Amino acid sequence: MGHPIHIAPSILSADFARLADEVAAVERAGADLLHVDVMDGHFVPNLTVGPPIVESLKKVTKLPLDVHLMITNADAFIPEFAEAGADYLTVHVEACPHLHRTIQSIRERGVKAGVTLNPATPISLLQEIMGDVDLVLIMSVNPGFGGQTFIPAVFKKIAQARVMLDAINSHALLEVDGGVKVDNAREIVAAGATALVAGSAIFSEHDYTATIAAMRAAAETVVPQKSRAAVNR
Ligand code: DX5
Ligand code: ZN
Repeated sequence: MGHPIHIAPSILSADFARLADEVAAVERAGADLLHVDVMDGHFVPNLTVGPPIVESLKKVTKLPLDVHLMITNADAFIPEFAEAGADYLTVHVEACPHLHRTIQSIRERGVKAGVTLNPATPISLLQEIMGDVDLVLIMSVNPGFGGQTFIPAVFKKIAQARVMLDAINSHALLEVDGGVKVDNAREIVAAGATALVAGSAIFSEHDYTATIAAMRAAAETVVPQKSRAAVNR
């Protein structure tokens, strides 16, 4: 960590037969977080990994584990994922009717709490919970698969989330997930994001270091809002 923009490779696009090597490679390549996509075949039409993989990953990397739960019954699995070593646990507002209770249950286990929402869900649903989270994740594709195309309407939602977080002086990460590439990283960060998840954009490339560096360079050409205001004054 420590970079103004956090880059979080999503292992969904990694070679699972060589998972430890892939994780070591993105760690060496300059990643800030490791994004782990948990899917249950109910909330999203795909199946991936559970707590045992998180536990194994924890043993082979120093990167904070950014665990994205795309599961119907998130509440029931929070203890296991916390125990397995998740550093961030992010839940979907659509899957958590008692969202405040869910966020408390994550935090009381010493895990950073994140909240996310699907592209068609309005950001206003997060208004009341924004002050209680460490990470807000904006989905820029319909969750379930890697390699999909970024939905441009989401730029507006990123900007709205930025305004909401700034209004309460929150330092929560504002992370964007789905279709993030070197080519759109600048625009996503200009809208207000501080963390970028990238699966296929990183793992489909031969040189992870060059790809992460290019994404970071593109993102960091954006002048932060506060210094921009200072320049204009
Ligand atoms: C989608 C997952 C994403 C996915 C992103 O459901 O939440 O994290 O891995 O993959 P790309 O970067 O390829 O769109
Ligand atoms: Zn994800």
